Amino acid sequence: MNSSSIGQPLDRVDGVAKVTGQARYAAEYPVDGLLHGSVVCSAIARGRVRAIDASAALALPGVVWVLTHENRPAMAGDDESYEDEDAADGSPFRPLFDARVRYSGQPLALVLADSLELARHAASLVRVDYQPDEHETDLRAALPRAHDAPAELPEPRGDAEAAIAGAEVQLALEYELANEYHNPMEPHASTVIYQPGGDLLVHDKTQGPQNSQQYLCNVLNLEPSRVRVLSAFVGGAFGSGLRPQYQLPLAAMAALTLRRSVRVALTRQQMFTFGYRPRTVQRLRLGACAEGKLQGLIHEAIGQTSRFEDFTEQVVPWSGMLYHCDHLRLDYRLTPLDVYTPLDMRAPGAATGLFALESAMDELAWATGTDPVQLRLLNYSETDQNQGKPYSSKELRACYRQGAEAFGWSRRSAQPRSMREGEQLIGWGMATGVWEAMQKPASARASLSADGRLIVASATCDIGPGTATAMTQIAADTLGIDPARVHFKLGDSTLPTAPLQGGSFTVSSVGSAVREACLALARRLCEAARQLPDAPFSDASQLRCIDGRVQQGDDSQRAIDLLELLARHGSLEAEVDAKPGKQREQVASATHSAVFVEVRVDEALGTVRVSRVVSAIAAGRVVNPKTARSQILGGVVWGIGMALQEEALIDHRLGRCMNHNLADYHLPVHADIGDIEVIFVEEEDALVNALGSKGVGEIGIVGVAAAVANAVYHATGKRIRQLPITLDRLLQGE
Ligand code: MOS
Repeated sequence: MNSSSIGQPLDRVDGVAKVTGQARYAAEYPVDGLLHGSVVCSAIARGRVRAIDASAALALPGVVWVLTHENRPAMAGDDESYEDEDAADGSPFRPLFDARVRYSGQPLALVLADSLELARHAASLVRVDYQPDEHETDLRAALPRAHDAPAELPEPRGDAEAAIAGAEVQLALEYELANEYHNPMEPHASTVIYQPGGDLLVHDKTQGPQNSQQYLCNVLNLEPSRVRVLSAFVGGAFGSGLRPQYQLPLAAMAALTLRRSVRVALTRQQMFTFGYRPRTVQRLRLGACAEGKLQGLIHEAIGQTSRFEDFTEQVVPWSGMLYHCDHLRLDYRLTPLDVYTPLDMRAPGAATGLFALESAMDELAWATGTDPVQLRLLNYSETDQNQGKPYSSKELRACYRQGAEAFGWSRRSAQPRSMREGEQLIGWGMATGVWEAMQKPASARASLSADGRLIVASATCDIGPGTATAMTQIAADTLGIDPARVHFKLGDSTLPTAPLQGGSFTVSSVGSAVREACLALARRLCEAARQLPDAPFSDASQLRCIDGRVQQGDDSQRAIDLLELLARHGSLEAEVDAKPGKQREQVASATHSAVFVEVRVDEALGTVRVSRVVSAIAAGRVVNPKTARSQILGGVVWGIGMALQEEALIDHRLGRCMNHNLADYHLPVHADIGDIEVIFVEEEDALVNALGSKGVGEIGIVGVAAAVANAVYHATGKRIRQLPITLDRLLQGE
C-alpha cells in the first residue's frame, strides 16, 4: 500500500456539511404530512397499567391517535424476534406489548398529532391508572440477591487467597460508581417515511442501520425488502445506539397503522429512560511483596441489571491481563432490579473495572513506597495471561516513558499534600488504560466510474469518530489515488454488511474490508491495463496502482494513467467479505494508554479542577492523527466527568432518576477542562490486521477516572473510592 494519505491529519470529509447544517440527523428530514409522536412514560417502577384515559388528548383538534398496548398492531410474541445484535441474555423489553410496568420511564403510550408542540401538550393530558407493586432500584439494598453473570471469565490461576494471605503487603478495597447515561447531543429519534405501497424508509439514530432494519422486520413481521434504514449522520451515540431504542418500533407501528409518515424524537428527559452504564460495586484484594510486586489478586464486581435481561460487560478480565500475577481469581455477578437493562457505554466494563484496578494499584504504590509508574513497570506483563498468548504488539512501556516525560512526572514530590500554590493543593496522579483490539467480519464494495471517481460503500455508521474520513484515506492509499476522488457511502441498511459501529473495531473491521475491496479493484485495474493492445509493460507481474496510474514497479515511464485506462475499459467494481486473519488466533491484541493528571484542589472548599492531562496511547498505526486525537480528547473529557461529576441520582422511593436533564446531570463544559496533550506512541503491528491499526474509540476514557482519583489523593491525602468525587465526599473522606 502507498501511504501518502494514511497518517495524515486529513480534515473530515463531511466537516463542511456538518458545520453548515447540510448534514441532517434522524429527526431533521422534512416530510410532507408528517405526524409527530410524543411518548408517555411510566411514573411507577413496577406494577400494571389498569387503564389509560386518552380522551382529553384525543379531543384536541390535530391529535390523530393515541397508541397503547391495547390498540397496537400485531407484534412478535417470542423473545428471539426482539433480540438485536447487541442483545443481553434474557427476554428483551417489548415496547407497548402488554400492561406490565417494569421500570420508571417505560413507554406506555404514543400520542400522534400534526405538530410536535401539540403532541407534547396532548401527551401531558393522557391519564394512566396504575396498580403499583413494590419495587427495588437500590443495588446496595439488593446485593444479597446477586447471581452469577452469564459471562465467560478467565480461569482462576494458582491460589489467590493463599498468596494474598502470605503476602507482606495486603490490601482489601471497595470501589463504587453510579449509573451514568450516554447523553449524546443528538437525542434518539426515528423518522419513518410511509411510502406508496406501504414500504418504510426510516431515518434512525443508530450505530447499526442493519441492526435496526432486522429488528423492525422481526418485531413487526415485515419483509426485509419493505424496510430500509438510513443513518447518514449520527450526533454522538457512545453505545446508546448499539440497540434499537423504543422510539423506532413505536414510530413504525404508528406509521403502519395510520399509513402516514411519523417521527418520534425523544426528549432529553427521555434519554434517561433506557440503557446506561450500570452502578457497580467492586472489591479488590491485592497481595504484594514489600517492593510492590503482585503475588495475588482478587477482583470481584457486582453490577446492576434489569429483571428481564442480564446485562454483562467486561469489568474484571482486565485485572487478569494488565499486570503479571500468577495467583488470580476474578468474579462477576449481577443484581436484578426494577430498572431498564444497562447498555454498553464508551469502553463498557473497562472504564468501570480500570477505575478500581488502577486506584488499587495506586494504593499499593503508596503502601509500598513505590513510585506509581515504577510499580506498573515492576508488574509489567509481556503476555496476556488470561489467554496465555503473546501480544500482537504492546508498546505500553513507551506510553509510560513518553507520557511521564511530557508531563514532567520526575519533578513530582512523593508525599501527599506536599505540592501547593496558595490555597490550592496540587496533586499528580497516573493510571494505565487497556482495551481489546477486536475485528469483526465486514463487507465493502468499491466502484470506480469511468471518470475516475471511486465510491466505496459499507453499511457502517459514523457516530462521530470520523469513519467516513478514515475509510476515504484507506481507500485512497490502497488504490494510489487522491482522497479527493474518493467518496465513502455508509449509514444505509442496503449496503454491504457491516457490524455495529462500536467497540473500537470499525477501522479494524470495515477498514480491512475497504482495503480488500480496493485491492481486488486494483488487481482488476492491473489486469485491464495488461490487456490493452498498446500496454507499455515489459513485466506484467510487477504492475501496481500508484499515484493515479497503473505502473510497472518503480518505473513511471512504464505506466498508464488511471483516467485513460478507465475511459478505454469502462467502470470497474469489486465487493469483498473481510474477516479476521488466522494469524490473530495465536496472539492477543489490545490498545494501551498511560494517563497523567494534575488536579488543583481548593483546600477550604474541596473543589477539584483538572488542570492538565497527558494521555499517551499505543493503538497501532493511526489512520488520521487529527480525528484520532479528537477521540482521545473526548475520552479524556468524559473520564474527567466520570471522576468528578457524572451520577444519575435515583430516588429509590419512587425508583426514578431525579436529575434527568443536562442542568442537573453534570457533565464537564469547556470551563472545566484544562490542558490536554495526546501522544500516539509508535507501535508497529503486523498481526492485528493488514492495516496495523487497532482503533481508538474507547481507549481515551479508560483509566482517566482512576488517574484523577489518584491525583486527588496525592493532593489531599484523601482516598475517595466512590465516583463521582464530589466536594462533599472529599470534605468528609477518610
Ligand atoms: Mo461503543 S460503547 O462500543 O459504542
